[in-house]
Parts: sequence; structure tokens; C-alpha cells
Amino acid sequence: MRALSEKTTGLTGIVPVAGDKSVSHRALMFGAIAAGVTEIKGLLESEDVLNTAAALRKLGVKIEKSGDRLTVRGVENFTQPDTVLDMGNSGTGVRLMMGLLAPRPLRVTFTGDASLRSRPMKRITDPLTLTGAAFEMTDGKLPVTLRGGSNGEAFTYTLPVASAQLKSAVLLSGLEKTAPTTVIEPVPCRDHTERMLKAFGADISVKKNPDSGNIITLRGGKRLRACPVTVPADISSAAFPIVAALITEKSDILIPNVGLNPLRTGILTVLKEMGADISYENAREVAGEPVANLRVKSSRLRGVNVPAGLAPSMIDEYPVLAVAAAFAGGETVLNGLAELKVKESDRFNAILTGLRANGVDCAPTGTDGIRIHGGGKKPCGGGLIEAKLDHRIAMSFLVMGMAAENPVAVDDVSSIATSFPDFISLMNKAGANIHDYRD
Ligand code: S3P
Repeated sequence: MRALSEKTTGLTGIVPVAGDKSVSHRALMFGAIAAGVTEIKGLLESEDVLNTAAALRKLGVKIEKSGDRLTVRGVENFTQPDTVLDMGNSGTGVRLMMGLLAPRPLRVTFTGDASLRSRPMKRITDPLTLTGAAFEMTDGKLPVTLRGGSNGEAFTYTLPVASAQLKSAVLLSGLEKTAPTTVIEPVPCRDHTERMLKAFGADISVKKNPDSGNIITLRGGKRLRACPVTVPADISSAAFPIVAALITEKSDILIPNVGLNPLRTGILTVLKEMGADISYENAREVAGEPVANLRVKSSRLRGVNVPAGLAPSMIDEYPVLAVAAAFAGGETVLNGLAELKVKESDRFNAILTGLRANGVDCAPTGTDGIRIHGGGKKPCGGGLIEAKLDHRIAMSFLVMGMAAENPVAVDDVSSIATSFPDFISLMNKAGANIHDYRD
């Protein structure tokens, strides 16, 4: 479906953003192997997460809906699936499942959509091969066939990239053995796996590395215990209404229950530095994760320099931050964007192409930076964006259309269902004007 996003004068009211994708995948996977029944409240029921649930069902796990909760009855041993596991668009789904299945005696083939089939998998299969699993694949891409197995040995791995998917896959591969699995992360990235494994009774410790970052040690060999999970609203999804409210005039919205894990909040740090009026209400802790309601009002933004060190804490938010920068006065420089090239699409180039199509002056800097000249006035808009199966590119440019001089079109918004199925209807309810259109 194509969509056109037209200028609006103000967004108001409560915008209940969908549940956190990272937390949702993990709650299903950990519940699937835990003893007992895990109750999940607020699970994100988007395509990515439903694909993980479908894969777990094929492995013999019972997942049922019960009122406003989902229950997962954990199994001691997975059953051999008789079909390929299609993980759709989800890098998190496939990479964490590889880690979870790596030590188990199964032969499983994973595939995904065209976007996922183009993304690198060797970063995951290389360390898992060292733990005793075997993989068949071509060019380091899906489809990948995993033959599970564990050599039972202690394993220490230093992350070559700040990737929570990679960190999680390695940690999960250690759950079946008593010898320790140690991950050294030079630059900390989201720690939902560590927090949730602990809540499920795993023997896991996180120590500061004297050099930099953390040393995470997991001692497996004992079964996880079911644990209730309450999923907060996803800060990565909230980023879209947040930026929308900032750049549209006379906006004032409230986004309830947003997860504010400190390794995810880089976007709020940067937007505040840009002059954003964002306040936290009713800050509290829910199921081991900090949560607050966010109040966001229209703001005059100014350009900033975003250091590469912030990238792991806002890795999914650069496309919408780039849109905010296009409305800011002065220059914004985004640094350390190499990982953007291997996301659901090549987001580094999608940002540049999309901004230029809407009349924004921008250019790459060095090998992994982007410079955006905001000019402090509304960009002209009027572009047609190719979303290339990338939900965050689709949503970012729909946000741009809400405040640009001319409407912004997105060629295919179907991918939004992977992470934030109600995005268009929620935004329209708040005052946006996004609609289907034909040429
Ligand atoms: C995620 C980690 C990040 C992020 C993705 C979700 C996770 O990916 O981009 O949307 O849940 O662990 P990387 O690990 O590739 O940085």
C-alpha cells in the first residue's frame, strides 16, 4: 500500500505506542525454554514478534492468548520442526533464535523476506561455530541451516561490533552448559537479554571492564524459571510520534509507559540537546526496566553534533532523527553510522536519498557520517520514498510529510506492520493526515 502524508497543524492527545520489540522477542524465547508458564503483558503483536511465536510453536512450544496476556508454556526439549522457520523481516528474531537453538540437537533451516535474506549472518554463525554448532549457507546470508551442538567448553568472545543481537546469540548459546560463556563488550549496547535472563533465574553477572565496557558471564546448565513479563512501550517506536510532535506546530502529546532503559535513550538525549520540549511524568520501574510517560510539545530545534559513541543507544532512531535535523536551525552531524548500512535496508543511503528527494541539503561525511543542513524552516517535501521493506524508513518519511511544505509519499507502507502495526491510525487519531493514494 502507498501512503501520502500531508501537512497538519497540530498533534494532540494520548498516543499509546506499541510494545517493545526487543523485550517481546526475548520474553517469548526465554518463556519457551523456562520451567512453568510465563505470562506476558503488553506483548507487541507485530509481524516480527508473531513470526518468532510461530517459529517457537513449530518447535513444540504452546503459546496462547488469555485475555490481555499471552502465556508461554516452556518445554524442556524442543521438537524437530518439519518445515523451514520463516522469520520474515526480523534480524532480532533470526539471530536470537540461532543462539537459542545452537546448543540443541536439532537441524533447523531459517529463512526470511528479501530484506532479511540480504543481511549478514556470518557475524552470528562464526562465534556459534566455535561453541560446537554447524551451519550451511551461501555468501553468509539466509537461508541458513543450523545443526545444533555444544562442545561444552568455556567460551570467551569479544564483540567486534556493538550489537545486542550478536551479544544475545552468544549468551543464549551458553545456556545448556555449566562451563562459563563470557562476552566482552567494549561498547555497551542494549542489555534486555542480561536483565531478563537474570529475572528468569539464570546465573549471569555483568562487571565493568577496567578498559571500557562490560564483561558479561553466564553459567548455564540449569533450567530457567518462568517469570511474568510486562512489556513497556517501545522507545524506538515512540521516536516517531515524538519527532512528529516536535516538528508540527501547536502539538502537545502524551505517550504512556515508554521503556527508558538507559542503553536505549540516546534519541532523547540528542533531541533535548536540540531544544526539544520533552518531559517525563510518573517515572517508575516495571519488571526491572525504567519506564515513564513522555509529554512532548512542538519545539524550535537547533542542529547538533551527535558523537559516534551514542550510536549503540539510538541505533534504530537515526532515520527519524535525520528528519528532525531537517527541521532544525543550523547543521546537524550524525557520526558512527556504519551499522546503518546493514539494517532492514541500507539506512545510511536511504536517509540521504530520502532527505534529498524532499529538498533537504545533506551529504555524507567521512566513511560513516551524515551532515544535514536544516536551515530552520520547513523542508519543501514533495518526495516519493522507496521504503524497500524498511519500516523505520517508511515511518520516518511519513513523519516528515506531517510538517513539510508539500506532502511526502511512501511507495509501500506494509513493512510498518513488522514493528508498529497501528502507527498510521494512531497518528491520524492524534491529528495527522496520512492516507492511501493512487497515482
Ligand atoms: C536489537 C538490536 C539492534 C537493533 C534491533 C533490535 C535487539 O540490532 O537494531 O532493532 O533486540 O537486540 P543490532 O544488534 O544489529 O545492533
